Amino acid sequence: MASSFGAAQVLVASNRGPVSYEVREDGSLHAKRGGGGLVSGLSAIGPDAGALWVCSALGDGDREAVRRGVGEDGVRMLDVPADVHADAYNGIANSVLWFVHHMLYQTPLEPVFDAEFRRQWASYEAYNRAFAEALAEEAAEGAVAIVQDYHLTLVPGMLRELRPDLRIGHFSHTPWAPVDYFRLLPDDIAERVLRGMLGADRLGFLTRRWADAFTACCDAVVGGLGGTEIGVHGLGADGDFLRARSHEADVEERMADLREEIGTAPDGGARRTVVRVDRTELSKNIVRGLLAYRELLAGRPEWRERVVHVAFAYPSRQDLAVYRDYTDEVRRVAEAVNEEFGTPGWTPVVLNLKDDFARSLAAYRLADVALVNPVRDGMNLVAKEVPVVSETGCALVLSREAGAYEELGEDAVVVNPYDVVGTADALHEALSLPAGERAERSKRLAAAGTALPPARWFLEQLDALRG
Ligand code: G6P
Repeated sequence: MASSFGAAQVLVASNRGPVSYEVREDGSLHAKRGGGGLVSGLSAIGPDAGALWVCSALGDGDREAVRRGVGEDGVRMLDVPADVHADAYNGIANSVLWFVHHMLYQTPLEPVFDAEFRRQWASYEAYNRAFAEALAEEAAEGAVAIVQDYHLTLVPGMLRELRPDLRIGHFSHTPWAPVDYFRLLPDDIAERVLRGMLGADRLGFLTRRWADAFTACCDAVVGGLGGTEIGVHGLGADGDFLRARSHEADVEERMADLREEIGTAPDGGARRTVVRVDRTELSKNIVRGLLAYRELLAGRPEWRERVVHVAFAYPSRQDLAVYRDYTDEVRRVAEAVNEEFGTPGWTPVVLNLKDDFARSLAAYRLADVALVNPVRDGMNLVAKEVPVVSETGCALVLSREAGAYEELGEDAVVVNPYDVVGTADALHEALSLPAGERAERSKRLAAAGTALPPARWFLEQLDALRG
């Protein structure tokens, strides 16, 4: 039998992989590499560790790369048919499971689990099966496979059936829904999701709160966890990388541009900055953040001309109409605030919608206050990153619904993300913190936020799975 096994000793599976391809006008393929926790984790185990990353082809460039047999060492891209992938990714993962875990439905009218949902669910199963089969084919005997996120909840169970010899892990980068909300899902689907995940030896979550919610769902729906272990690994920011990267020339350049956009206060002093950087996801609460800032300017006129809200809201999941509408609303509210309060020398909100990592780091460096107010978030790494990079130390206004709250709550100004007046008060408090205290708190936030850097976060899980 052993001869039919693959060669990979450590396997990672995720929808989005570490590389994506673009077809250039001359027909050549251009590879773009991404970052993130898993990339650091896999590079930490070294090139000889027999690691393989299984991911999905996402766009036309990726599909072309698969067809031409172009690829990176250590990466296997699956060419799941585009319509199957769209149903699984947009239909089920992003429009159902993401909504459930972030509690985003407007329940008077949604969700509606109709025949179309059942059709999409069949695609989600097929897409999960493609991953399970690829992992089964590539894994060496007794290898470790760590499956990522809500896109691939069924993979552990499917893989366990194909390859009982493997050590299987699954990690959730999102929150987990409380029992009553999870049970919006049709009963058979709720059960399939949980049983799929319980096919793993070990399930990882970002915080105790999400781990406990998962356990509660299992108790209610499938009578407990069975033999599956639960672990909590609070992914932290990569401090060394951020400190170095944020001092490169492109970041310096963007700082100069940003400083110009921010301008100076009427007394000639530097304006304060309230910085936020998000992908424009429905859970990030960017609109209420803008409304809170509006409330601050309305209720405390002393801040007018003296503060700028630097809001970077980068595109995400633009195939979904509700995401496009949300981006429009962010733009509309930002413009309304600028119209209401702006003056010839002062733009109260500087909004940027085009992704630019160097500019994000420039904003981090200039931040006096970081605003992180998601309605619900698995962790939120921005909350951990800004204190590491900010030059004079920043105050953190932090939602108690972000996973990062568990580790950073003590030194943050904590808000209920739905309470716009409360968030305006928190912004005022954060902007008013004496410089010394702000610097002290920022130092502690940076230490807590880098306590478990990505490479160690990954190795911890690997060790736990190997037992
Ligand atoms: C967020 C979540 C991750 C998820 C990712 C997918 O960052 O925290 O859990 O995997 O979104 O994003 P994508 O752009 O691939 O839909």
